[in-house]
Amino acid sequence: MRNQELWSAVDEYLIEHLIPADDALDAALKACEGAGLPAIGVSACLGKLLQLLVRMQGARRVLEIGTLGGYSTIWMGRALPAGGRLVTLEVDPQHAAVAETNMARAGLSELVDVLVGPALETLPTLADGEPFDFVFIDADKVNTAAYFDWALQLTRPGSVIVVDNVVRKGAVIDAVSDDANAQGMRRFMRQLATESRVDATGIQTVGTKGHDGLLIARVR
Ligand code: SAH
Ligand code: DHB
Ligand code: MG
Repeated sequence: MRNQELWSAVDEYLIEHLIPADDALDAALKACEGAGLPAIGVSACLGKLLQLLVRMQGARRVLEIGTLGGYSTIWMGRALPAGGRLVTLEVDPQHAAVAETNMARAGLSELVDVLVGPALETLPTLADGEPFDFVFIDADKVNTAAYFDWALQLTRPGSVIVVDNVVRKGAVIDAVSDDANAQGMRRFMRQLATESRVDATGIQTVGTKGHDGLLIARVR
């Protein structure tokens, strides 16, 4: 088997054994596809990892940067206790509208706020609120370093920050890559190399979405 075929087949095997079919998640993916949204959300296994991390963290307040149709939002929102809150930021009004419908279908409208606008404009409006316990950064990759700075402003010691797509098929180690997203991740990694406010690790992932990786940080 070619690598990608093998990774996909193993993802399917893991899903079959560990991740029961779920009407709201399936319907959300269908609605995204129907609305012509790009299929760039997290895989089912990564969605469930986010859910487990939010639960393990005992998070009550979650911030997501980059909603798309809210597939990852549903995974994390389901991990919140009653009275919890998930704020998710999305620049594209059409994506946000699809996400709102998906939240309603999943019964999460009460817990989730979808804030529409460029994240760098909405993030400052969150500074007056309580700190977030968990942050998932998954929007435009060129601004990842700035989003991470904001995440540090909006969290507390012990909060967890997860960043998606840090590896991008290995492009992150290509110093001369002409991919602006890859260069954005390289800037972010350079910033992290001297960042004393977190302990962090990177995990490469393979699966249905190819070769990529997650950055997981805990605020000191
Ligand atoms: N977290 C989603 C996938 C997000 S895809 C999931 O796993 O299901 C990235 C999203 O970030 C896209 O919907 C895109 O419109 C949004 N985005 C891009 N630039 C942005 C910006 N400046 N501010 C907020 N959202 C942005
Ligand atoms: C892209 C964005 C993502 O969040 C992702 O998981 C995969 C791809 C993209 O913009 O290409
Ligand atoms: Mg992503």
